Amino acid sequence: MKTVGIVGAGHMGSGIAEACAVAGVDVVVHEPQTAPLVRSRERIAASLDKAVARGKWPPHAAADALRRIVHTTTLEELGGCELVVEAVTEDEAIKTGVFRRLDARLGPDVMLASNTSSIPITTLAAATTRPDRVLGLHFFSPVPVMRLVEVIPAFATAPETVAAAEAFAEQIGKHAIRSKDRAGFLVNILLIPYLIHAVRLYADGFGTREDIDDGMRLGCGHPMGPLALCDFIGLDVIDGICTSLYDEYRREEYVAPPLLRRMVTAGCLGRKTGRGFYDYAPAHARAAA
Ligand code: 3HC
Repeated sequence: MKTVGIVGAGHMGSGIAEACAVAGVDVVVHEPQTAPLVRSRERIAASLDKAVARGKWPPHAAADALRRIVHTTTLEELGGCELVVEAVTEDEAIKTGVFRRLDARLGPDVMLASNTSSIPITTLAAATTRPDRVLGLHFFSPVPVMRLVEVIPAFATAPETVAAAEAFAEQIGKHAIRSKDRAGFLVNILLIPYLIHAVRLYADGFGTREDIDDGMRLGCGHPMGPLALCDFIGLDVIDGICTSLYDEYRREEYVAPPLLRRMVTAGCLGRKTGRGFYDYAPAHARAAA
């Protein structure tokens, strides 16, 4: 791939753009509003600075990567891309609308991918006239650091599209695994029940949040404990994935715990709102519930 488009300039879209750019791919990031694009550029620059400070890239490589990324409010600027990755809000109606617009405005050969963590890829493909060129490309946060990409062929995805997506993953230094188009794919169907089980243990007073997290960090070598990881991913995102898993499989184990639901209702979504199971605003953390 020479040029890749990203629709959605949030945490995931910016991370995907950064991962592509450091691998030498030109990137066009689109959002209809200017403010998120400005924030995206700042976020990518800060992340590249951190990578330079950690000795991951020489300073000139980071500067070259930033130059490879164009941020634009004009959808038509995605016209020269071979692949466009959608990374907008996890909402079926919004994502379907994006796929419909991309299909109408981009040439028939452009491949369309979604970074959705829970919406069926076949639903998004059905909103286009090119379902053979649509698939899921599910990245993991933080994208510049996490090596995995799940490749999800939808019902009518052509084998060439899957092969091109896997080659793209390799090109940007990611390891691709292939999953069936089923809620949770391979990783979230394993990860989410574990995370919500930790929330239930915490809610039932089995242990403090620190002890639950230390248990998995120090006992099992996980980089983050489950409650810290909930905050990192976003409690609203986890709640949404629980809903998708339950809708698909109707198993009790996928039902979001009441504490998680209440925290989402209260706007305690984790790091992005400054408060979740931990408090990220002041230096001293307080339990959220
Ligand atoms: N580019 C390249 N490398 C970078 C980088 C960048 N922009 N920023 C940091 N790094 C590297 C660092 O150099 C370091 O590498 P090293 O180990 O070789 O020295 C490594 O990344 C870790 O960086 P830091 O030391 O700054 O950060 P921490 O050690 O505090 O780790 C973390 C932070 C990577 C987030 C770690 O805590 C972690 O791996 N947590 C788990 C994250 C996880 O599970 N993500 C998946 C979430 S699920 C998901 O996304 C799916 C969705 O659908 C829900």
